Parts: sequence; C-alpha cells; structure tokens
Amino acid sequence: MADTANLDELRELYSFFPLEGVTTNPTILSHSGRKLSESIQGIQEIAGTGMVHIQMISADSEDMVREAKKYRSYFDFGDNFYAKIPVTAKGYRAMRILKDAGINVTATAIFTQQQALVAMKAGADFVAPYVSRLDNISSHGIEVVGDIVQNIATYGLKGKVLAASFKTVDQIYRVSMAGSHSATINAELLFQLIKHPMTDIGVKQFEADAEGLYDISF
Ligand code: E4P
Repeated sequence: MADTANLDELRELYSFFPLEGVTTNPTILSHSGRKLSESIQGIQEIAGTGMVHIQMISADSEDMVREAKKYRSYFDFGDNFYAKIPVTAKGYRAMRILKDAGINVTATAIFTQQQALVAMKAGADFVAPYVSRLDNISSHGIEVVGDIVQNIATYGLKGKVLAASFKTVDQIYRVSMAGSHSATINAELLFQLIKHPMTDIGVKQFEADAEGLYDISF
C-alpha cells in the first residue's frame, strides 16, 4: 500500500504500481496541505476499489467508534474502509466494538509482538508494526514483524501484518522475507524499490539491438 496522502504522488504511483490501497495518519495528512474531507475524497477517487485506511483521533472508545462510522458513511466507503486504531486500552475496546459492527480495523502504532497479538484477538484485520521507529530506538523492527508472523501461523489467527514506517529499501526487503503479508510504503521508497541500474542498461541495450530488426508493425 502507499503510505502517502499526496495526490500527485498517488496518481503517478497508481498509473503503474499494483497497489492494494492507501494508508494515512494525521502526520501524513498534514503534509498534504488539504483538510481531511478533501484529502480522503481525492485518495478515494484515485484508489478506486482499493483499501483506504484512516486513523481515528478520538481518545475514548465510543468516540473512536462514532468517528469510524461517520467516516465510513461520509465518504460512502463500503468494505474498502479501514479504521486505524492505536493499540491503547481504549483502542482495543473500540476494535472489538467496530468488528462486531462489521467495520474493518487496522491496529496501529504497534511496537511489540504482544500488542499485535492482543489487537488480533480484539478482531483487528491488520496489525501495523512500526519498523523504522523500532530500529531508531535500538530495537529490531524486522524481528518484531517476524514474531507477529509466527504468532499468526502458530495460533491460526485471522489478522495480517501490515508492516509500516520504513526508511530504507533494505527494511522492505527484510520484512517481505520475514513473511509480512503486506507493507505500507512512502512514495519515494516505492519508486526506489523497483529501480536497478542494470535493468536500465539492459533495456537500453535491447532497444539498440532491436533497431531495424523488428519488422512486424503493431
Ligand atoms: C502507517 O500508516 C504508519 O502510520 C506510518 O507508516 C508511520 O510512518 P513514520 O514512522 O515514517 O511516521
């Protein structure tokens, strides 16, 4: 998924990248220069039937639930909508209520395997461990992702890992090898992870060698 609310970036990414959705948080939205209503409407137009994850800002469980229901109806989201809920005590309670109401949940701001496990038991569809933020406090983001993946397999849980907070392509490589079911990645890294200079050199050479050789018009 694309971890950005920049509509220009999203338009370009969606023109070729096989994305499954867009994730936002208040910080990401604040960089877009647009209010929530305008931002999400723009994202929805670009993402089409893909998932859109919006973070709740309420502090209390019932308010988070009200907030999620409001956004879901305001933007006329069906099942494409995911309410991002931080893994606080109030958040866990809101997750259960939202799941019982048939609303998709992404548990966010996860820093430990235990938080993810509790969130999945509370019904979260996705759990989002923050890889870079873990690495930056001398912890191990990739290991946390791997532990959660292992828990899902061991206990047959329904949740999926949505690895988040990346600063390097190598982190993305490592979470994919650790079995993360999905990842949300900023535009700069999405562009970077598909690039390789040898690919560019190879393509240039093929173009040169095809000159005057391909005689079937199309
Ligand atoms: C996911 O949606 C998270 O909110 C996001 O990836 C956090 O990224 P950051 O640590 O770069 O702010």
